[in-house]
This record gives sequence, C-alpha cells and structure tokens, in this order.
Amino acid sequence: MQFAGRRKSSLVGAGAGAGAGAFDPFGTKHNASLRKGGRLPVYVAGVFFFVFVIILYGEDIRSVTLDPIARVGPATEQASAVFTPRRDVMSSPEKGVDPVKTLPRRDDERPDHAAAVATTTTTTSETAAPAQGIRKVAEKSKKPKKGKKKARRQRAAKKTVSPSGVISTPETCDLSKGSWVFDNASYPLYREEECSFLTSQVTCMRNGRRDDNYQKWRWQPNDCSMPRFDAKLFMERLRGKRLMFVGDSLNRNQWESMVCLVQSAVSPDKKYVTWEDQRVVFHAWEFNATVEFYWSPFLVESNSDNPKIHSIQHRIIDADSIAAHAENWRHADYLVFNTYIWWMNTLNMKLKRPDGQSWDDNDEVVRLEAYRKVLTTWAGWVNDNVDPARTSVFFMSMSPLHLSPQVWGNPDGIRCAKETMPLLNWNGPIWLGTDWDMFKVASNISRLASPRVPITFVDITTMSERRKDGHTSVHTIRQGQILTPEQQADPGTYADCIHWCLPGVPDIWNSLLYTRIMSRPEAARI
Ligand SMILES: *[C@@H]1O[C@H](CO)[C@@H](O)[C@H](O)[C@H]1NC(C)=O
Ligand SMILES: *[C@@H]1O[C@H](CO)[C@@H](O)[C@H](O)[C@H]1NC(C)=O
Ligand SMILES: *[C@@H]1O[C@H](CO)[C@@H](O)[C@H](O)[C@H]1NC(C)=O
Repeated sequence: MQFAGRRKSSLVGAGAGAGAGAFDPFGTKHNASLRKGGRLPVYVAGVFFFVFVIILYGEDIRSVTLDPIARVGPATEQASAVFTPRRDVMSSPEKGVDPVKTLPRRDDERPDHAAAVATTTTTTSETAAPAQGIRKVAEKSKKPKKGKKKARRQRAAKKTVSPSGVISTPETCDLSKGSWVFDNASYPLYREEECSFLTSQVTCMRNGRRDDNYQKWRWQPNDCSMPRFDAKLFMERLRGKRLMFVGDSLNRNQWESMVCLVQSAVSPDKKYVTWEDQRVVFHAWEFNATVEFYWSPFLVESNSDNPKIHSIQHRIIDADSIAAHAENWRHADYLVFNTYIWWMNTLNMKLKRPDGQSWDDNDEVVRLEAYRKVLTTWAGWVNDNVDPARTSVFFMSMSPLHLSPQVWGNPDGIRCAKETMPLLNWNGPIWLGTDWDMFKVASNISRLASPRVPITFVDITTMSERRKDGHTSVHTIRQGQILTPEQQADPGTYADCIHWCLPGVPDIWNSLLYTRIMSRPEAARI
C-alpha cells in the first residue's frame, strides 16, 4: 500500500538492504557467531552463499544503486492499478471523501532485483479528513500497568481468558522461546479473501501461490500459553484509543495484519482506511478507535523521509532529530516501533553532523554505533514525552530475511521460493544474515535507556527465522504490478524473501502484542 512517491527508495532501499544484509562484505560477525556455535557446515554454506551472491548480484546492486530513479514508473498509474479495486472499502462514506489526492506515495524498502526483490505495494491515496476525529479520540484513555497473574499451564488458548476478559499470560514468560505447531483447526486467524484491506503485496494465494500451509502454524511458547487472538475483546480494549505502528515496511506488513485481525469485529460500514502523507490509518468508527501506520524507516529524521527525494546511496540520517516525526506519535495509546531493514545495505551509515548546515555535512559511522545512537535518541524521546500512565511502548525486533537456502540445508533451493515448511526441530542459530549485535543493542536500549517509561522489546526474530516458508516470494507485486509469469518463473531475481504473506507470520507477531496488551490491566478511563 501506500507511498507511491517513495517508490524509488523502495526499490533501491530494499534491494540493497536485502543484499547487504545477506552478504556483509566483511562478514566478521557472522563468522564469529559461527565459530561460537561450532557449526562448520553452516560456515561453509555461508561462505558459499557469500560468493554466490557476490557473483550473481553484484552487478544488479551496482546498477540499482546508481540509477534509482530510472526504475520508478509513473506513480499515480501504479497506485491506481492496485488501489482501484478497493476504493469503495477504503473511503469513508460518512465523512464525504475528499477526492483530492494526496501525493501518491510508496514506501520503500522494496528490494529490487539485487536482492530480494520486490515490489511494492502500493497504493495510495485518498484522504478523507480523518484528523479531527482522531484527535478527539486520543484524549481519553489511560494505560495499563503490568498485571502479573501466574498461569503456567499449557493448554488451549481460550482458556487463558477469564470471564472478565483479562488474559493471564505472565509478563515474565519468554514468548520468544517455543515451537511452531501445525494447527489447521484454529489457523489462519482470518482468510485472505475475507479481508478487503489486504494489499496485493501480501495476498500470496490470490497472486498464484498454491500451498497454503504457511497460514496454519501456531506459535507455542515453551513456558506458558498464548491466547488465540480475539478481535472483539481487542477492539473493546482499543475503544477510544489509537494503536500506532511506526517504522519501515515490515512494520507496515504488521499493521496490515493487525487491521485484518481486528476488522471482523467492526461492522461493515464503520471501517475504512485513509492515507495522509506518511500515515495510513484504519478507522473503526463505532469504537472511536484507529490502527495506524506511520512511515519513518529510521525513526529519526533522514533525507529519505521525503517521498520524492532520496536514494539508497545518498541516504543520510540525522541521528539527533526526531521531533518532527515524533509530534505525530504523541497522542497514541499504543506505540509499536521498529527499524532494521534500511540499515542493512552498507556497513557504515552516514550521519549528519550535529552542527551541519546541510545533508552534505555528514560523517560515516559504523552501522552498529549509528544504530545505537539513533535508538538512544528514540528512547530519550520516549522517556521525556510519553505518559506511562496512558501509553504502552513496544519495539519489534528484526524480521529475518531468507535468501540463502544452503544455510537451512536445501542446496537446491532458490532463495525462499521453494520453501513450504518451517524449520522444525532446529536448534541453535541459523545463519541468515540477521545482525544479532543490532538485536542486542535494541534490546538493551529498550530495557535501559528509558527508565521513566517502560519499553517492551518483542523478540520476533527467533521464531521468524524458522519461517522460511512464510515470505511473499514471487507471489507479490513489483512496482505496483503483480509479477508476470516470466518474473514468477525467475525467483532467483524476483523472489521477495523479506516481506511476509498474509495471513501468516505477522499475525503471530500481533498475537504476541495482543498477549502483552491484554495481560495487563486496563487503566481506568477518564
Ligand atoms: C487438517 O490437516 C489434517 C492433516 O493434514 C487433515 O487430515 C485435516 O482434514 C485438516 N483439517 C482441516 C479442517 O483442514
Ligand atoms: C466517539 O467520540 C465522539 C467524540 O469524541 C463522541 O461524540 C462519540 O459518542 C464517540 N462514539 C463512541 C461510539 O464512543
Ligand atoms: C547489553 O547489556 C548487557 C548487560 O546488561 C551487556 O553485558 C552487553 O554487553 C550489552 N550489549 C550491548 C550490545 O550493548
């Protein structure tokens, strides 16, 4: 969906992002972790993959990087191509849709052929005038503190819900440790064809995927149970509130999942989606509630925030400036952040100098240090500006890429294209190019850098690494169009192994959020 104007960066950003993530040219940390784990075969596979990628994709990446703009087609055209079928659903009859189009935008991280490819989404825009409604809603509610009932039994999810609607999964239970269990009785949580808000980027079955088992896996934590997502219960909790996702296209993927998870609880004429600059908003009218996505791939400001002017090779981050974005987050009741994929295309990031007059005044900083700096700015904002009595803050960890089938023991694989099963019974790390040092930095900062306002770090990385089967692969769009049969037949070039099919893995990420949110008592309403 959205952000057609960003198309260029999407392509470029994602492409390079995926590529670099997969084959960091220095490979230091990968090697280190391998040694630790003593996984020689994995190491060999890693080296093999490294060489393979360099040879195959080096040229692609270069060309993409040099020519970001050439790949962008006419934005409006693409946007409408994808958007049109759903226009009725998206617009707001009640409010009288303003036919004025906002800038079509698109976001970005879509990989291009360089790496994982992809396409994007699309969509755009009609903006209804949602702003005031939203503001009003925002003033009410409060927020939960943590509730800790003990419930250690492993059993059917629904039993964790007490009559009062309180769920009792203990805060201390590590939801990230567990296993995938095939459960075609309870999953998927919604059907692809039932959720009209899904964009063509993620509707894998409609786009030609044949196997649908990827929709049917439940996540079973080792030490406690997770309740099944209950849309009605959750919408009651959201009544009069704003749930906002902030970050890159993976977070948008998760936003889309959340919209589909809750929309069945909202009457047909009382829900719609609006686009407005960097925001996409699902409105649930009868609940006075919104589920929003705010585009901000680095969280802080960067020269890539402008939908029209940016390219991967020129991206520069202003690590100390967050206010302009953050103004838009102030009145949310639940804030769900992420930032990762845009960091993965180079080892060093360009940071604008604090006293710099323009973006040209920048220094190259090692990625990990730049990430630490940016997240420190972010956590500082949270600490100073969020009211912990009202707003809950979450940080979603890195969503893994699956570009290297040799690593999980499928030498005949092509990226993630032939994968139909999760990795089950796999112990130890998987060498996928996930930067675990960034993971640790984000985890530490979430835990320590905002003492006044708790930030819940949600580990989705470990569970998602096993879900090589869940990506959109060739069943997606590229520059607004469904991949052609020729493109689908060439997964080595076109498979998107970054984003995820829906229904699918992001539904489980949202189930984690749901579990945390519903397990905490709701603060009294004003
Ligand atoms: C669930 O999967 C089992 C085993 O594959 C199959 O026998 C059964 O018919 C499936 N049930 C549903 C509801 O699809
Ligand atoms: C939603 O909010 C508006 C104004 O804030 C109020 O008039 C209306 O009654 C609310 N509706 C519901 C269903 O809570
Ligand atoms: C995270 O914090 C722990 C201690 O709380 C420390 O040992 C570790 O070095 C930190 N890691 C990073 C990457 O900051």
